[in-house]
Amino acid sequence: MTEHVGSQMSRRQFLMQVGKAGGAVAVYSAMSTLGLLGQSSAGAATLPPPAEVNAASRNGKKIVILGAGLAGMAAAYEMSKSGYQCVILEARARPGGRNWTIRRGDAVTEVGGVKQVARFDEGLYFNPGPARIPQHHITMDYCRELGVPLEVFGNVNEASYYYSENVGPLSGKKVTKRAAKADMRGYTSELLAKAVSQNALNLPLSQSDKEKLVAYLRREGDLNADLFYKGSGRRGYKVLPGGGETPGVQEDPYNLSAIIQSGFGNSFSSEYSIDQQMMMFQPVGGMDQIGKAFARKVGHLIQYQAVVQRIRQGESGVAVTYRAADGSVQEATGDYCICTIPLSVLKDIPGDFSKEMSEAIGKISYATTGKIGFQFRRRFWEIDEGIYSGMTTTNMDINQIWYPSHDYLSRKGVVVGYYNFGEAAVQLGDMSLAAREEYALKQGAKIHPQYHREFETSFSIAWQKTAYNMGGWASYSSADRKDYYPTLNKPDGRIYLAGEHMSYLTGWMAGAFESARLTVKAIQERVMKA
Ligand code: ALA
Repeated sequence: MTEHVGSQMSRRQFLMQVGKAGGAVAVYSAMSTLGLLGQSSAGAATLPPPAEVNAASRNGKKIVILGAGLAGMAAAYEMSKSGYQCVILEARARPGGRNWTIRRGDAVTEVGGVKQVARFDEGLYFNPGPARIPQHHITMDYCRELGVPLEVFGNVNEASYYYSENVGPLSGKKVTKRAAKADMRGYTSELLAKAVSQNALNLPLSQSDKEKLVAYLRREGDLNADLFYKGSGRRGYKVLPGGGETPGVQEDPYNLSAIIQSGFGNSFSSEYSIDQQMMMFQPVGGMDQIGKAFARKVGHLIQYQAVVQRIRQGESGVAVTYRAADGSVQEATGDYCICTIPLSVLKDIPGDFSKEMSEAIGKISYATTGKIGFQFRRRFWEIDEGIYSGMTTTNMDINQIWYPSHDYLSRKGVVVGYYNFGEAAVQLGDMSLAAREEYALKQGAKIHPQYHREFETSFSIAWQKTAYNMGGWASYSSADRKDYYPTLNKPDGRIYLAGEHMSYLTGWMAGAFESARLTVKAIQERVMKA
């Protein structure tokens, strides 16, 4: 990452003076004191400039990193910049961890022994894990630094649908998101505008303030001059405006009671959270382009198919026993260990952790979550329904359908047929592969009758049944954050935990990066102080 060490000349001059007198380590310590190494504006840990750390760590500290997911590789990448020696033990035969893209021929065996081989056409792919990047996440900066080309990920598409069952008059009806939003906003604006203009609310506002508020609500809800919502072009047209004598024919709004009963409005806010707001991005060609870019930097440090069996530590170092690719038992030793193994897996690996740390590791739950990728022979969502990217939301077990945000107008495509959590994810995950496919096709076909005719092949993932993950992401309760998270965050002797689970960005790649950077910073500071 680019280091921002302050821009004021007086500080620079001061640091130069310090450097002349005390060398790089003194500069670093002065920068710390000045708060110049704290949090960057993006909230990520600012790492000591590599040159200074080099100077302090010439005695060649060695770091054993467990896991070649994004946290492990980012840690190795940053550590290597500063001249540390790193070795990464990775249980799988590939880098990236959950940063993963499924293409033709990729195989995975779930815990329980069910093997799956992807049959997608060449060139088509499915991201079973991370699939979207918010623009304020540090992930964007790593993509810049590593040269990973990005494209827009359509997280919000007004042309996609809400579809729910057992919700009153709109049950079993495909309602475009634009229609649901226009109606909910229209009616709620109408109610509020009337209440304000009739002085029905005891508001601490002047007459002029109230007029301004009503003027805003008129625009917000597209109300008429009498403050009624009577529908809006925003919600869609029976006949779209066009050339010549075609002004368009608006659709009629749903009635207030129907749209309230539908509960669609409860889903709007998912798009409002800072991590789900547009713009969002994805790497061109699959999410694993990020993992592959890191592997180009640190791949030579990775021992693949190295399954950790035991983590030991003593006064002077760490020793990690692992089963190597050839079946032999081997040991990696170093000064410190950065362990990025998910807690859901780490809890079953014997380790020299303190009692508090062992307890904390064992207490944290992981999200159950699953996805299925459906290859369709025809991009019917684009051709028949004018949907280019985005997602449909439903109260059925499939929870959502994602339309691809790449290769628009091409012939075939991979749609995410379900992305669900909790009970629904367990239920689908416990089915056979064929049953998952059939179940999701059947539910999805209620929204897209084209499904069965156009379907070709699927690939599904149940993260809670995926070896070396055993869950989607750490799922902390607020009590866990209070009772266990502080312990997990502290180094346990010479062992440091990193990964999305060591962040307030659980379930995001940025959580892995930010926690890796904090760990790197903590070890570097410890080495420099020693
Ligand atoms: N960050 C994950 C998502 O975008 C949970 O769905």
